[in-house]
Order: sequence, then C-alpha cells, then structure tokens
Amino acid sequence: MINVFQPSLGEDELSAVREVFETSWVGRGAKVAEFENAFAARLGSSSDQVISTNSCTEATFLAMELLELAPGQEVVLPSVSFVGAANAVAARGARPVFCDVDERTLNPTVADIEAVLTPATAGVLLLHYGGRPGWIAEIAELCRERGIWLVEDAANAQASSVDGKACGTFGDIGVWSFDWGKIAVSIDGGILHARDPQVAARAEKLAYFGLEQTSGYAEAFRSHTRWWEFEISSFSRRSIMNDVQAAIGVVQLGRLDEFLARRADIGAAYAAGLADVPELLLPPELPAGHVGSHYIYAVQMPAEIRDQVAREMFDRGIYTTFRYPLLHKVKAYGSTVRLPRAERAAATTLCLPMHQALSDGDVEFVSNALAKAVDNNLDNNTAH
Ligand SMILES: Cc1ncc(COP(=O)(O)O)c(C=O)c1O
Repeated sequence: MINVFQPSLGEDELSAVREVFETSWVGRGAKVAEFENAFAARLGSSSDQVISTNSCTEATFLAMELLELAPGQEVVLPSVSFVGAANAVAARGARPVFCDVDERTLNPTVADIEAVLTPATAGVLLLHYGGRPGWIAEIAELCRERGIWLVEDAANAQASSVDGKACGTFGDIGVWSFDWGKIAVSIDGGILHARDPQVAARAEKLAYFGLEQTSGYAEAFRSHTRWWEFEISSFSRRSIMNDVQAAIGVVQLGRLDEFLARRADIGAAYAAGLADVPELLLPPELPAGHVGSHYIYAVQMPAEIRDQVAREMFDRGIYTTFRYPLLHKVKAYGSTVRLPRAERAAATTLCLPMHQALSDGDVEFVSNALAKAVDNNLDNNTAH
C-alpha cells in the first residue's frame, strides 16, 4: 500500500539513538535541550521561549492551562481542526465554538472568526491547514484588537511562514507535533512556543509536576544539601520528552529542508500530472510572501464521486483520507451550527499520499489512478 503519511527514518536516527543508549542517561537531558535549541533557531526565536513535550496534544492542553481557560468561556476553532485541540478546550469546562472555513484552502478567514466572537470569547485556537499559513497575520491583528488570546496549532506547519515570520510565533502560544505522521518526527513529541518567556517558564514547571526546581538534578546537587526534597507550584502532570525521542528529533530537524524540497517536488509533480483531469480542483497557489510546509496535498472533486474515488484508489493499493473531519458534527461538543463552506469542503476534499519517501513512480501511479477513478465515476454519475 502507498501511505498518506510516512516518516523517513534510517541509519542516522538509529545511530543517534545508539549514542543515547551508550550514555548513562536516556531521560530528559542534553539531547532534549539540543532539540529545543535547534527548533527555536528554526523559528527565529530564543530557546527560553520553547519547551518540548511528549506530544502536541499535551502541549495544547498545557496551553489552555497557561491561559487559565475557565468554565463559561468560549474558544473559537475552525471546524476543520484536530480533535485533540477541541478536547483541550472542553476539558477545561470551556465551550469550543466552531467557525466556517474558506472552501478551497480549509483555513478560516478573518470574517469567519469575527462572525462567531462573543463577549464570552477568551481566545482563538487556529489550525494552519496542511501547513498553509492562511490569514494568520490578519487574525493575530484581530485578536490583539479584541483583547483575546491566539494559540496556533502548527502541527502541520513545521516550516511555514509569512514574510519570514514563522507560523506558530504570531500568537501568544504555538504548538507543533513531531509524532510519527508529521514531516520531521521524534516518533512522539511536541513543542510549545510562548511569546512571553515567563509563560514558557511556567510551562516548563507545569510539564514536570509543578516542581519549582526544573534546572535538573546536577543543579540541585550543587545548590541543596538535601537535593531530594522539593517544592511544587501546581498540581500538575509529567509531560516531558526524553533524550531518545529528542535524539531522533535532532537528526530529523537536520533533514527537514531536504524533506521539504522533496515534498515541493511531489506537489509540483501532482499538479503537472493532474492538471488536465476534468472536474478536479488542485490546491490554490500560495499568496506572495507565504511559505507552506507541503504537509497535505488536498484535491477537490464533486461530492457525488469523492467517496467512490477514495474506495477505487484503496482497491489499487493507495490510501487517501480526509483530514480533519468536521468537529461541529461531533455530538460530544454539543454544537448545532451549520457551516456550509466547511461542510462542502469536507464532502469534496481528498488528501493524497504526501511524504518524502514517495518515488517519482509512486506519484505517477497515484496521479494516473486518481485520473482514472475520477473519469470512471464521472461517467457512472452522468449515466444514472
Ligand atoms: C493538526 C494537528 N494538531 C495536533 C495533533 C496532535 O499531535 P500529537 O499526535 O503530537 O499529539 C495532530 C496529530 O495528528 C494534528 O494533526
């Protein structure tokens, strides 16, 4: 089968793990610091604004705690969002309020967000769909004007930017995922970036039981007689990354530009291979100044044929999917809105395999299979 998402892991990652095994320390240590520093450098940010976590979902839960989200407050999310993001809101007793999205890019516009703001809105939790920055600068401006916070779910956007500013750094807090299905991976892992280094320092404590001394045992040995005693500032969990994950992450960050270049080529090859397929809409060009991460390659087709096209692709050994199923349709969140553009996009969009391990032959095979499946089903559809 050809996978939709797939990591590229090899000898370099294995030897980095072996090196960690050969030290006496596999928990959070020097490699975690190296990973955080490397990612902070990529963001053009400083390492005291960045902390790593064991997942992006955990980083999102931490973000909601840091912002002291409370029962009765509302948080605006595009309905095309990851389930973990809405859970992080609902778990605090707050209400996720879902907004519509631009039908072609699946990112919300400023007007989509503005339309659902109320006096109870505490903030916006925004997804960069597929790694496209979307209207991030304008949305950040809107949030500033309205005095509400902005958190960016940049799980798809490891290397996205607008006019040189990294996605994930426009808001008060940004979170990234390094789980196995992202571009650079640490198998599991996340990063939280806070604009305010004091918030990042609080995040670091929250991520480790709320312990006051987070500088590590070596520091504690030097500065305390009874270094095993501790103080806590909050009743919190253990959300940290370890050196094995971080060692993989460091190697992967070193390969990220190579992955992105290959993904850009794959995107261009899909665009060339699918240009003449009738009724198929390809991803729109990015606006000037926007850089994407090529995380998702999403095509759109008439809703009547989408599911059958996905089935035929599957039968030919090609996985496709739709990310992210609409959250306003998930009963547990209690939403009753209708979001016509998000609903149309969810019915017409199909995410094709997109990862750097795809060969040119794979891309051609997927393009041909898609062209054939669309053609078959358009015929069937007009015949009925
Ligand atoms: C957009 C988005 N946000 C957050 C997450 C959560 O990431 P993690 O698996 O690191 O918790 C994912 C995972 O698929 C995601 O796609």
